[in-house]
Amino acid sequence: MTLQTPPETRSKQDSPAALLKLRGISKRYGDFAAVEPLDLDIFPRDFVAVLGPSGCGKTTLLRIIGGFVSPTTGTVEIDGRDVTKIGPEKRPTNTVFQGYGLFPHMTVRQNVGYGLRLQKKTRAEIDDRVAEALRQSRLTEFADRSVAALSGGQQQRVALARALILRPKVLLLDEPLAALDLKLRHTMQDELRRLHQEFGGTFVFVTHDQGEALSLANRIAVMNAGRIEQEGNAESIYAAPATRFVATFIGDANLLQGERHGGQVKLEAGPAFADAGPDGAITAVVRPKAVKLLAAGEGADVQIAGMVEDVVYLGDHIKCSVKIMGEQQIIVHLDAAIAPRPVVGEQVNLGWPLLQQRVVVA
Ligand SMILES: Nc1ncnc2c1ncn2[C@@H]1O[C@H](COP(=O)(O)OP(=O)(O)O)[C@@H](O)[C@H]1O
Ligand SMILES: [Mg+2]
Repeated sequence: MTLQTPPETRSKQDSPAALLKLRGISKRYGDFAAVEPLDLDIFPRDFVAVLGPSGCGKTTLLRIIGGFVSPTTGTVEIDGRDVTKIGPEKRPTNTVFQGYGLFPHMTVRQNVGYGLRLQKKTRAEIDDRVAEALRQSRLTEFADRSVAALSGGQQQRVALARALILRPKVLLLDEPLAALDLKLRHTMQDELRRLHQEFGGTFVFVTHDQGEALSLANRIAVMNAGRIEQEGNAESIYAAPATRFVATFIGDANLLQGERHGGQVKLEAGPAFADAGPDGAITAVVRPKAVKLLAAGEGADVQIAGMVEDVVYLGDHIKCSVKIMGEQQIIVHLDAAIAPRPVVGEQVNLGWPLLQQRVVVA
C-alpha cells in the first residue's frame, strides 16, 4: 500500500519479530471496499489500537484477523504461520465482541470455563485455571452468580476472563468499553492495562475514541475509509501527523490551506516559507499549544496577524480564538497565568516555529 507515514513512525516492515503480519489485506462487499489493501505488523506484547470513525472498516479488519471474515485479497500470518484459510477456533486468537456475547443462562464460573470445557481439559485443570482467571479479573466473589445479574463493567470483566483463560497469542477486542458510562470506562481502562501486563499477551482493540486509544495503546493504527493512514506510537502520531485526517482525528489542530511550488509554500492566509516536497495543494498543521502571541518586535518562522475573537479560561490553560485573513480561525492555547490576558477585539500577531508545524498533502 502507499503509506504516507514517515519512515521513523512506521513499524519494522517484514521484521522477523512481528507476531501478526497482515499483507495486502482487503475486503470488498460487491462494489464497496470496506477495507482497502493494507499491510500491518503487530509485535509481541503490543497493545495496539485500531482507531477511526464509525464505518471506516475497523470491525471488518478485526474479524479478518480473528478469522470470522475472509479477506478478498491478502494474507494473515500469526507467529510465522499463514492462517488466512484457517477458521477462528483454530487460530491462536480470541475475540471479545462488542456487546460481549456472554451466555446469559450460565454463571460467571461457567462462562469463564466454557472454552476449556470445549477443549476437553480435565476437571482439575479447568477448576484451577478458572479460579486463577477469576482472581486476576477480580471476579471471585461473583463466581456463582448468573451473568444476567451483573453490572455492565462486571460483564465486561467476565468477557475478558473468558477470552484470556484460553491464553490467546492475540486478544482481539471490538470497542470493548463503548457500552460503559464515562466513569466506568476510565476504571476499565486501568483494568485493561493491568490485565495486559499481567497476562503478558498481545492485545489489539478497535475504538472510535481517540482518548481511549491514547490512554491504552502503545501503538495506534489510524483508519479512515478502509485505509490505515498512519501507524506508530501515540507521541509520533500526535507530533507528526502524516495526513490531514490524522491531524484532526487526534488532538486539536489548526489547519491552513496553501500551495507548494519549487520548495516554497505560500499559505492562503499570507505567510510563506521553504518546505521541500512535491508541487501542489498542501495543508499546514499546527497545534494550538505551539502558537504564540508575539510581543511587539518579536519574530517567528511563520507569522500571521489577526484579531482576538474569544478568550476562555479552562483551568490549566487559556483558549484564545483569533480570526485571521479569509474568516479563518486559529486556536491558541496560552499559559493560564499569562499577563496581561488578551482581550476580545485586540489586534495580535501570531507566530510559531517551522519545527512545530507539519505540512501534509491537502
Ligand atoms: N457483511 C457486510 N456486507 C456489506 N457491507 C458491510 C458488511 N460488513 C460491513 N460492511 C460495511 O463496511 C463498512 C465498514 O464496516 P465496519 O468494519 O463495521 O466499520 P467500523 O467497525 O469501523 O464501524 C461499513 O460501511 C459497513 O456498512
Ligand atoms: Mg465496528
